[in-house]
Amino acid sequence: KPQIHEALKPLSFLIGKWKSISAKGAYPTINPFTYCEEVTFSSIGQPLLNYNSIAYNPNGPKPMHLESGFLRIKAAGTNEVAFMVAHNFGLTSLEEGTVKGNEICLKSVQIARMTFAKDPAVIGIERCYSLIEEGKLQLILSMETENIGLTEHLRVVYEKID
Ligand code: HEM
Repeated sequence: KPQIHEALKPLSFLIGKWKSISAKGAYPTINPFTYCEEVTFSSIGQPLLNYNSIAYNPNGPKPMHLESGFLRIKAAGTNEVAFMVAHNFGLTSLEEGTVKGNEICLKSVQIARMTFAKDPAVIGIERCYSLIEEGKLQLILSMETENIGLTEHLRVVYEKID
């Protein structure tokens, strides 16, 4: 495995491959649902993490929501982070926040959207990843749309598989 860049020390708790053991979605406008997800935060030696997520249907390997991007830390010795994410449904989000201990919380500072992306438009995204115990990572993600204020959309617990 490549050496982990010094600057990434505060993010090292995220590094690895994670698989959901519980993944729930909800929103005031939709029926609650469950899904499966595999997430990878990896390093190829640069001072940033490469991020990939595949969410799929629990009743078969049918892919659903996909995300891919980069997680950067401002400089060695700071706790300021930025997450650039491309979503398969026609949106990109630039999220910024801080890492404190084994928790990283981010808020969107910019969201761009394809002209032909499905409505409703997403206006805001907030997410926190926290290591709730050794080898267990939790994600809580909220979003704001043009119709609904900031409300939880996803709640996931992952276990480390690699
Ligand atoms: C619905 C955004 C992640 C599954 C929605 C809606 C939006 C949205 C805007 C429509 C809500 C409405 O009609 O009022 C997002 C954003 C995500 C995200 C911004 C990540 C930052 C996920 C993930 C899954 C997922 C990881 C996992 C499979 C669904 C499902 C629906 C939905 C099943 C309801 C069915 C539908 O309307 O297509 N999401 N989503 N979403 N989302 Fe997400």
